[in-house]
Order: sequence, then C-alpha cells, then structure tokens
Amino acid sequence: MITVNVELGDRAYPIHIGAGLIGRTELYAPHITGSSVAIVTNTTVDPLYGDALRAALAPLGKKVTTVVLPDGEAHKNLETLNQIFTALLTERADRKTTLIALGGGVIGDMTGFAAASYMRGVPFIQVPTTLLAQVDSSVGGKTGINHPLGKNMIGAFYQPQAVIADIAVLRTLPPRELAAGIAEVIKTGAIAESEFFDWIEANIPALNDCDATALAHAVKRSCEVKAAVVAADEREGGLRAILNFGHTFGHAIEAGLGYGEWLHGEAVGCGMVMAADLSVRLGRLDENSRARLTRLIAAAKLPVKAPALGADRYIDLMKVDKKAEAGEIKFILLERFGKTKITGAPDEAVRATLAASV
Ligand code: NAD
Ligand code: GLY
Repeated sequence: MITVNVELGDRAYPIHIGAGLIGRTELYAPHITGSSVAIVTNTTVDPLYGDALRAALAPLGKKVTTVVLPDGEAHKNLETLNQIFTALLTERADRKTTLIALGGGVIGDMTGFAAASYMRGVPFIQVPTTLLAQVDSSVGGKTGINHPLGKNMIGAFYQPQAVIADIAVLRTLPPRELAAGIAEVIKTGAIAESEFFDWIEANIPALNDCDATALAHAVKRSCEVKAAVVAADEREGGLRAILNFGHTFGHAIEAGLGYGEWLHGEAVGCGMVMAADLSVRLGRLDENSRARLTRLIAAAKLPVKAPALGADRYIDLMKVDKKAEAGEIKFILLERFGKTKITGAPDEAVRATLAASV
C-alpha cells in the first residue's frame, strides 16, 4: 500500500492506494468516531463491493446503514441527494455519523455534499471504485450535484477524512468507464509535467488492459499531483483551475447532450482535444504537441470529435461554466506539457475551434 497525504493543516487526510484495501478494517477505524456509519452507494456497486465493505466495518461494532441510490450521472441531482437525507433522518443519523461513499465520482460527489450539509456537516470517507474517482474526484473536496442548467453548479468544498482507493475493484469496470478514467490521467499528465505525459504515452496499452502495476502508478502519480495543487489552492482562487483543462468544452458537451449521454471522462477527453486546438489557434501551443495529445486521447479509446451541438449552443453552455467571469468564458490553454494558461479567448477563435472539432 502507498499513502499520499493531502496537506491541509487540520483538515489533512491520507489517500491509501493498493490492491485489496476495501476489506482492511484498520484503514477505516481511525476515521469513525461515532456509533454509526452510513454507506452511500448505488444499485451497481452495492452488489459488487457492499458486502466486502460491510465485512470490514463489522469488527468496529458500529450501526451500519446502507443507502442504495439509482446509478448514473442523470441521477446526480437534488432528488437523489434528498434520498440520502431521508435515509439519514429515518435512521436517526447524528452529528458523529460517518458517511462512506462507495462508488464512482457521482456517488462520491453526492455523498460529499450530503456530508457537508447534513446537520451542517458530518465526517465522510471516500472509497472510490472507478479509475476516474481514484485519480481525481475522490481527492480535493469538490462535492455537489448537477442542475439542468449547468454541471456541478450546486455544491460545497468539503474534504473527506480519508480516501481508500482499492485498485483491485477496477477489474470489474466496463471498458468505457476505464477509458473515461484514463482521460483524467492524461489531463494530469498534460497539465503537470512532461515526464508523466511521456510515461502515459509509453504505458497506454497497459492502462487500456487494466494492468494493475500501471494503474497503481497512474493513481499514485495523479493523486500526488492533485494533492499538491489542492494543498496550494484548496478553493480554486487560481492555480486549481488547471485541473479543469478540457472541462470548459467538456462540461458543455455533457450538459448539451443531456447528462449521462457521454461519460464525464469522454467529454473531458474530447474537451482537451478542443482546448489544444484553441491553444494552437491562439499561438500558444505547437502543432506537434497538439497532435501528440490528440493521438494519446484516441489511443485511450476516447472520442476526439465533438458532438454537433451548434456553435451558439456551445457558447451559451460555456458561459454557465464556474470559471466564467461577467459572461466571459475562461479557457485552460496548454502552452506545453506541464504549462497552462487560464485566459479568455476571442469569439472568432472559439468558433473556429468549434467548427474544426465536430
Ligand atoms: P460514475 O460514478 O457514474 O461511475 C461510472 C459507472 O461505473 C457507474 O455506472 C458505476 O455504477 C459503475 N461502477 C463504479 N465502480 C465500479 C466497479 N468497480 N465495477 C463496475 N462498475 C462500477 O462515473 P465516474 O466516471 O466515476 O465519475 C464521474 C463524476 O465525477 C461526474 O459527475 C463528474 O462531474 C465527477 N467528477 C468530480 C470531480 C471532483 O473533483 N469532485 C472530478 C472529476 C469528476
Ligand atoms: N476536478 C477538478 C478539481 O478537482 O478541481
């Protein structure tokens, strides 16, 4: 097992990474101080891993409730969030009840937001079961739900007590979900350092094959990078926005098509291709780097052609992005692997990218 720490003073926490961690009682024990636990999961993950988690918690002698939500991005909304609150109130969960998010990013984001707001805040643990959640969404404390008018628009910054990332559970991930997670790994490589980008290029066949050693390295390195960014800028005053590379276009794809039509990682993959195109158009990135990034995204079996929503619709959707200021859309542009620039862009350049991307 490897442990990466997120250094946030009195809210610091460990990210444990390794195979078989879901069943290790001692990893949960220090973070459960009350008399009850509520596992929040979904109809897909509970039959796969719910029993292993409940067995790990059993020796702690706590009351354990399981809240099983419907599966999918389309359910990441207020109605499903309310199901968590109803279950917690029905079970008389108190201020020391620990919530455990068992699932992918949808479950993690919703459980985190429920933990941030139930009784004004209860502790929670992330047990991410998708690659995307292990490399990105379970770390850093962004929690929330979607609104029909915008992705992840309602939420809170709220850090978990711990992240327990069991690499072994990735074996049951459908290939499309694995690819969606690789998109966020590629994002980290593109924004953080060329050495990691080179490693991903060399190891993309192993990642596509769900090779445990390659996945463990990808999760570790992605968590190290994300932990450092979050420690430097927890609430996205500036630097943290680099983690949104590809997301301005990507979120527009997700919202424009209807949540769940394209996976978040697929939209981010294609969004990075679009952001790289815009970077070249604005003279910030060289053509060879754009082509390398596009090839890598295609090699990860991710879409590189955007859905034809229409330029006006894309622009309307991107104006709802959280980075937009006074209606001006902000883009994370790439200057080279490991160097980004957060900036607005002329309308003609954005429209040219949109036209070239479909
Ligand atoms: P997801 O949570 O929908 O999970 C993908 C699918 O895989 C679901 O059907 C799920 O039930 C299933 N699944 C989960 N674990 C499995 C396993 N081990 N075996 C088999 N099936 C399994 O999607 P995701 O890609 O994990 O997360 C996407 C969400 O994360 C989006 O809502 C996105 O906005 C959010 N996100 C948040 C952050 C953040 O910083 N909070 C960062 C990136 C993404
Ligand atoms: N996934 C973007 C962030 O955590 O800031």
